[in-house]
Amino acid sequence: MCGIIGYAGHRPAVTVVIEGLKRLEYRGYDSAGVAFVQNKCLETVRSEGKLERLEQKLSRCDPYLATTGMGHTRWATHGLPNEQNAHPHQDQSGRLALVHNGIIENYLSLKDQLEQEGVEFQSETDTEVLVQLIGWHMHKDGLSLQRAISRALEQVEGAYALAVFSTDNPDQLWAVRNSSPLLLGVGQGENFVASDIPAFLNYTREVVFLDDHELVLIQPHSWQVYDSRNLEPVTKAPEHITWDVQSAQKSGYKHFMLKEILEQPQVIRDCLAGRIDRDTRKVVLKELEGWEVPTRVHIVACGTSFHAGLWAKYYFERWSGLSVQVDIASEFRYREPILKPGELVVVISQSGETADTLAGLRIAREKKVPVLGICNVLGSTVARESDLVLYTQAGPEISVASTKAMCSQMVALILLTLYWGQAKGTVSSDFSSKALKELESLPELMQAGIPGMHEQARSLARKYSVARSFFFLGRGENYPLALEGALKLKEISYIHAEGYAAGEMKHGPIALIDQDFPTFALVTDNDLLQKLQSNLQEVQARGGPVIALTSPGVEIRVADRWEVPKVWSQLAGFFILPALQLFAYEMAVYLGKDVDQPRNLAKSVTVE
Ligand code: F6R
Repeated sequence: MCGIIGYAGHRPAVTVVIEGLKRLEYRGYDSAGVAFVQNKCLETVRSEGKLERLEQKLSRCDPYLATTGMGHTRWATHGLPNEQNAHPHQDQSGRLALVHNGIIENYLSLKDQLEQEGVEFQSETDTEVLVQLIGWHMHKDGLSLQRAISRALEQVEGAYALAVFSTDNPDQLWAVRNSSPLLLGVGQGENFVASDIPAFLNYTREVVFLDDHELVLIQPHSWQVYDSRNLEPVTKAPEHITWDVQSAQKSGYKHFMLKEILEQPQVIRDCLAGRIDRDTRKVVLKELEGWEVPTRVHIVACGTSFHAGLWAKYYFERWSGLSVQVDIASEFRYREPILKPGELVVVISQSGETADTLAGLRIAREKKVPVLGICNVLGSTVARESDLVLYTQAGPEISVASTKAMCSQMVALILLTLYWGQAKGTVSSDFSSKALKELESLPELMQAGIPGMHEQARSLARKYSVARSFFFLGRGENYPLALEGALKLKEISYIHAEGYAAGEMKHGPIALIDQDFPTFALVTDNDLLQKLQSNLQEVQARGGPVIALTSPGVEIRVADRWEVPKVWSQLAGFFILPALQLFAYEMAVYLGKDVDQPRNLAKSVTVE
């Protein structure tokens, strides 16, 4: 759960590397470091804390002659987040430097072996084992760096994307991956490796997606990919990336989270683009052509993506008559799920790199059940390992708290529901055409409605900022959104919040209610409205203040009524979601929290 970048070219490498690290900070930000070779000497500069601290340190040296360099931004898994454990790590000879993203599972036994050979370790990390092992093979067996990397990787169990260079050939940088993301950026007289595209997008849009066990050598004027196991050359071709570099930056907003919440109208447009046939008014999913409607669907995901899956279950059952099981990936992977021929596993992941979700995907494949990956990141591991991929096309999501990605997942899942409903005949063409028309009208309605919602969110956040706990309640398809509202509030404002199916309150949680424990209720016009109203009366009878997020025309008497703009009731979730996100955002801003990089969290959870 870290970001790495490597550079070989003609520019001052440290400047390029620091710039890349800034764009990768969402992957981890508890410590950072850079390595470069200057005057034939290997220099590493590392610092605890955010990148600014590293930059301050660098301003005291003069690293501007080096044209090859590497950098790392860390989210600790082994060893405290301090300077000693920050990357890059060096081998004992001081000739090699290495950065790593992932986890080396057998590092303790490898460390023992190396210590017996006289290697002295400087840190508590699994990463240092890698660089010491490579160095040891070079020193003891007289291997070239390339062969030493390959030999070391034969001994290593775990996940890695790593970059390494040696003072012997300061223009050359090697990088390799297995189960952690790594890309190659091909420039003019310069080449890059990085965990994610925005790291080098300022310099090149030509990207090579590396697969597991691919080892790449970059030099200023050339690059070559090898199979890391047998060192045979592998032919790869760059793909052109059309992302705008601005879209990976804040565009003037105070936080990425706000920018990404406000991008949701465009996200809906982008996800619908090319997926509705203008003549027949039907959903066209070219990605799924030739595949039968499954007999049963198993949705597997984590966190916010799990909530999107749970929300979609209501629609799959209601509109396409499909039986759906929704699982948290970390549970699914250790259960013994019954997966049968004809069924389909749908994994949902913004990043496409979440370790538990990937494990769920691999279980399905082992059991020979096809997998549909719904993900946002082009060329991610989910995308590459799934039988079918539906991209959500939401653009890069930088804020740690996921917002626009969920919106795009909901659009993709609604399209999928209609697509299967059309194929099975469970939705009439009139219904499908109505649903699509309503979906297409959403961006404009949202664009018009969001500023008012933002104002309301701001004033409610201030009013309730002293509360230490919240319930979020919903029924039907609003229940997963209640879970999401609670997750957003707790992860960025650190206020305790619980999402519940409203009918569950009387089975225990209502005991907590008093005048200091507000309830955020999702009261849109669905079939369960009256039942929810009774649940809320029970809360109010015990003195609990209620904020009702509701649609026009819904009768309800509560402490605070927040009416979202009018929309087809089936799609009310597309307004509920940004309202909840804006409430959490405004609360966190008011309380002075680090909105984009909340404590203890990282954007992409690539370890178990
Ligand atoms: C919450 C959040 C996380 C992610 C979860 C899954 O705001 O961002 O709960 O949703 O880590 O991530 P992906 O979708 O990348 O698999």
